[in-house]
Amino acid sequence: MSKVLNFTIDGVICMAEKGQTILNAATANKIYIPTLCNLPGLKPRGSCRVCNVKVNGKFLTACTTPVAEGMEIENNSEDIIDIRKSIIELLLVEGNHYCPYCEKSGNCDLQAIAYKYNIPAPRFPYQFPDRDIEATNGKLLKDHNRCILCKRCIRGIKDEDGKSIFAFKRRGHKVIINIDTRLSANMTDEMAQEAMDICPVGAIIKKEIGFKVPIGERKYDKEPIGSDIEEIKATTI
Ligand code: FES
Repeated sequence: MSKVLNFTIDGVICMAEKGQTILNAATANKIYIPTLCNLPGLKPRGSCRVCNVKVNGKFLTACTTPVAEGMEIENNSEDIIDIRKSIIELLLVEGNHYCPYCEKSGNCDLQAIAYKYNIPAPRFPYQFPDRDIEATNGKLLKDHNRCILCKRCIRGIKDEDGKSIFAFKRRGHKVIINIDTRLSANMTDEMAQEAMDICPVGAIIKKEIGFKVPIGERKYDKEPIGSDIEEIKATTI
């Protein structure tokens, strides 16, 4: 049996297996930590930073940091909440997120976390960047206005030889997600749906079927994000 480690999150005594990340251990202990770029089954990259927690006074990403014996982790202190809110707000102003007519509304992690953290409007000025919507792929529509560059599609959607169908194109602030035309030529409907589902926002949309589930009846319309993880002991934000 693997070694059991004892640690606390916001004073709650928790246990983890050696090698478990703070995020996975928190989930196993029914404590919610928000995530965007992380997805169970994919190697964590620590790129969005929304899972920031504080360990011994230092900010660390919960998805990439392993638990150590005796760790005292803060997950819901004021400064952590403020950092997470700032990240969400910056993502909202940096793109064009028009939730009311987005096919992913109600299934969007970014929107759901914004609701969870009571963000009625970002504190930063909207940038209104000029970005394209690409519909050249046979099965998928790419809306660069909504992409948060989390790389979940690059890491998770591969062809039968294990090659990534998605990749980054361009550099710096011009970087966008690209779909490889050759590798995506044989994409099945199931893969296209998987690509849409792996995207935490509405940047990858499967063509042809829209608004099959009406707004108001979608995943986060019914239950706030994280409610499948957290127990009553979770603090109110
Ligand atoms: Fe940990 Fe994105 S979920 S950095």
